[in-house]
Amino acid sequence: MAQEFAIDLENVTRIYHRDDFEIRALDEVTIRIPAGRFAAIMGPSGSGKTTLLNLIAGIDHATSGRVIVGGEEITSLKEKDLARWRARHIGLVFQFYNLIPVLTAFENVELPLLLTPLKKAERREHVETALRVVGLADRMNHYPRQLSGGQEQRVAIARAIVADPTIIAADEPTGDLDARSAEEILTLMRELNRQFHKTILMVTHDPRAERFVDTVYRVDKGSLIGADAVAQAEAVRPAGAGL
Ligand SMILES: Nc1ncnc2c1ncn2[C@@H]1O[C@H](COP(=O)(O)OP(=O)(O)OP(=O)(O)O)[C@@H](O)[C@H]1O
Ligand SMILES: [Mg+2]
Repeated sequence: MAQEFAIDLENVTRIYHRDDFEIRALDEVTIRIPAGRFAAIMGPSGSGKTTLLNLIAGIDHATSGRVIVGGEEITSLKEKDLARWRARHIGLVFQFYNLIPVLTAFENVELPLLLTPLKKAERREHVETALRVVGLADRMNHYPRQLSGGQEQRVAIARAIVADPTIIAADEPTGDLDARSAEEILTLMRELNRQFHKTILMVTHDPRAERFVDTVYRVDKGSLIGADAVAQAEAVRPAGAGL
């Protein structure tokens, strides 16, 4: 069944052109990630991690190969359909949060819902739920500059989950955080995975992340060089110790 894998890439190559030469950012990558998995992508700088994540999130196009995400082959979608597909399936989280400084936490999280037919009262309900899930119900009316880095990233995560996407795609979500905030964000992502069954794909350099995820996919020079199942968080925390 198509939905068996949340993410299914076949022989995907992405070539960028700069001046007169070609950069093979990804070279014939085949990767299948089951629904419900919390997966990390690790590898050296320039190895193709962001390229891989962007292709899966439908914000970049493969040069060749097939990209099937959420049961849909997105390689063949036109831009308008791709945007609609993205809104339904993908929640994005970046290293530098990308919050809009002149909007409150509430307004930042509400943004993706402005593209949906939801009425104002329904939007409010969804936004409040998302902010509650990330532990920021009491910061709704704060502006990004009034929040800590960890809190800003929580707002960004609330914005990523507010439209209830199938997949959360995060590019170095702990890259700009101190050790403690990083652990809190990883813990939150694991809870989203375990409690709300979100498939999460996270690019990271953070060795701490290995303790939180189910699988680490390793990328080097544009190729997938392996996948290891890793020690899971249950090993260090009692099972069922949820939110
Ligand atoms: N838009 C682009 N135009 C040209 N080359 C690009 C573009 N995006 C990425 N590249 C090149 O593709 C290769 C892979 O880049 P990518 O950003 O995927 O690496 P990365 O693994 O995410 O690195 P980092 O850990 O530093 O973020 C690099 O050589 C990079 O310079
Ligand atoms: Mg990158």
